[in-house]
Amino acid sequence: MEARDLWAEGPENGHMDVLLAALRAAAEPTRLRIVALLTRGELTVSELVHILGQSQPRISRHLKLLTEAGLLTRHREGSWVFHRLAESGPGAEVAQHLNVLLPDEGVQDQVLTRDRERLAEVKRQRAEAAAAYFRDNAESWDKLRSLHVDDAEVEKVISRLLPGDGIENLLDVGTGTGRMLELLAPRARRLQGIDLSREMLAVARANLERADCGNCRVRQADLYQLPYPAAVFDAVTVHQVLHFLDQPAAAIVEAARVLAPGGRLVVVDFLPHDQENLRQEHEHRRLGFADKEIGAWFGRAGLTAKNTEHLSGAPLTVAVWVAEKPPTDTKQETPPP
Ligand SMILES: C[S@@+](CC[C@H](N)C(=O)[O-])C[C@H]1O[C@@H](n2cnc3c(N)ncnc32)[C@H](O)[C@@H]1O
Repeated sequence: MEARDLWAEGPENGHMDVLLAALRAAAEPTRLRIVALLTRGELTVSELVHILGQSQPRISRHLKLLTEAGLLTRHREGSWVFHRLAESGPGAEVAQHLNVLLPDEGVQDQVLTRDRERLAEVKRQRAEAAAAYFRDNAESWDKLRSLHVDDAEVEKVISRLLPGDGIENLLDVGTGTGRMLELLAPRARRLQGIDLSREMLAVARANLERADCGNCRVRQADLYQLPYPAAVFDAVTVHQVLHFLDQPAAAIVEAARVLAPGGRLVVVDFLPHDQENLRQEHEHRRLGFADKEIGAWFGRAGLTAKNTEHLSGAPLTVAVWVAEKPPTDTKQETPPP
């Protein structure tokens, strides 16, 4: 990052005061540790309390200071409040510079190393709870899924927003029982589905075989590290997966990586809602997403937002967000004769 970004609006208008406030806020051991942790994704207050081993009032005070100084933003969803690094403004730039300066994994720093280990443990426990949920619900997942909204309506919209023909390679991320593959099998030449849960994949294999979808394959993989080279899929679908994730924005970046120029990404999830019970009963981490949030993540992943459709249902509204990877300018890619 260029240092001059900080001064893009000029040092007048109190910009220097804002920068000084951000630097002061970060210049404290626990607050620097919080910034270091949040460079790895958003966290709730109670997760930070657990990792840092300090009382909730203390951590809340530090978070308030960092937020007021523009280094962090907070996002309330039901009874949970997520904290993340700010994305714009001098405070955000200070946080990003600090991230560059903080020692990485290989460098010995006892405090940061312990924090990272505890963070990894928090994530591991969360992943285990989600995996257990999917393991226990694999057989009945398709029934559970339809508790929320009329699937047929959603599927009609997905079909309409994907290119009519000519899809060579399609990837379904977090394929679960393989419903998207089954739906889209007639529309693409080859389809791949990935999922972390072996139990879900076992059901997907049986479903795809039963539906005679010979052009579909599923494999176990982590959606944050897709086992494919860049730019190989014409279409990627992410259906009802984001609300389970720690780092939904990172999932979109990884999906965008494997998308070919001109390819489409279709994300389906809930709009913001207040069904707190979905956290306890169904392991949801996020209570839906706003159009603006998804649009910003598309932009950061280098995608252009194309369509948004809402399908109202009570109490949950499903949204279908479609983005496109800009086609590369072939003239630039071809070297001059
Ligand atoms: C709610 S289910 C949706 C399944 C399917 N897309 C559907 O709509 O029926 C979410 C799926 O995401 C998978 N999942 C969660 N985290 C994942 C990860 N890090 N990598 C791959 N799959 C993941 C779960 O195992 C689960 O099968």
